[in-house]
Amino acid sequence: MQKKCNFIDAFRVDLLSWYDKNHRSLPWRSQSAAHENPYHVWLSEIMLQQTTVPTVIPYFLKFIDLWPSVEDLAAADNDDVMREWAGLGYYARARNLHKCAKVVTEEYGGQFPQETEELKKLPGIGDYTSAAITSIAFDKPATVVDGNVDRIMARLFKIETPFPKGKTDVRRHAESLSAGRADRPSAYAQALMDLGSMVCIPKTPKCGVCPISQYCAAYKAGEVELYPKKAPKRQKPRRYAHIYIVTDTKGHVLLEKRPDKGLLGGMTGLPTHEWGETKDIAFAPPVEAEEGKWVRLNEKAYHVFTHFELEMTVYTMKIDDLLSISLNSNYIIENIDEADRIGLPTVFKKPYLLAKKTL
Ligand code: ADE
Repeated sequence: MQKKCNFIDAFRVDLLSWYDKNHRSLPWRSQSAAHENPYHVWLSEIMLQQTTVPTVIPYFLKFIDLWPSVEDLAAADNDDVMREWAGLGYYARARNLHKCAKVVTEEYGGQFPQETEELKKLPGIGDYTSAAITSIAFDKPATVVDGNVDRIMARLFKIETPFPKGKTDVRRHAESLSAGRADRPSAYAQALMDLGSMVCIPKTPKCGVCPISQYCAAYKAGEVELYPKKAPKRQKPRRYAHIYIVTDTKGHVLLEKRPDKGLLGGMTGLPTHEWGETKDIAFAPPVEAEEGKWVRLNEKAYHVFTHFELEMTVYTMKIDDLLSISLNSNYIIENIDEADRIGLPTVFKKPYLLAKKTL
């Protein structure tokens, strides 16, 4: 048995032995746990940014089925990658994912680099993801700080500075527990993630079964639920959009390919226009009104982005034949059945489903 010589050693031994018995079985984790597949680790970590494990699992399985290696993903058509990503949100991730697969294939011979500084040169890989890949895939020491680690450190060390400022203290403490530690870095990083999602959860944490409660300052003070302290949230600004849903008697619907840059870049969506900061936005439909008659739905659709929430007023119009009118090249005429199948980003799925009830 390993000797517990100080707080950090003892803490790590207790956390790791809990992990050995209780870790989650996840599709990007190898069964042997000795050697993770760097492609799987990278893909899962990109998908897991701002997205929960249950949401990611089917996407991850679909991606590795379609593209079993990083070289396969690099060779994929960008439109296919964007379509398979639809619904996961934060679409810049998908654009960078594909770019990164190409760089790893073309410049690194299909092998991910192992060091964080080298990884950070790749598209879409920042501090968090580089540390996660170095530790989880290559079993090398690196400090991984995600939302789970934020919460665990805030409680363990009873960090008084409210988040987000308090995250500086989180990093310092997280580093003190992991820097230079070669005893199972991969398992350690994943143990914190599992502890954060199974035991040290945001509401009603399960301190009774926590393997590290004896080290936890907030637990000793009986105040676990007061941490992490958070600065009061500012209300998100609201933006406004018109969404135009044009169908025809031949079973077509009009879609729009969005510009490559910016929010939802490169995705296929519903025709809209620049979103405004006030309700007073111009009515600028993609098809002239004389082709049919616009109907405004009473019910509005809403979507929350990281920095704002969007209120969508939905207009529908049924015309005779979409194929007979001239349209800009960014518009796509699609069969309605096909439009149901292809992945529309969630922000557009909401008005689309609203409108479908009326079509
Ligand atoms: N959240 C972020 N990365 C994760 C991982 N590798 N396993 C489980 N949850 C995670």
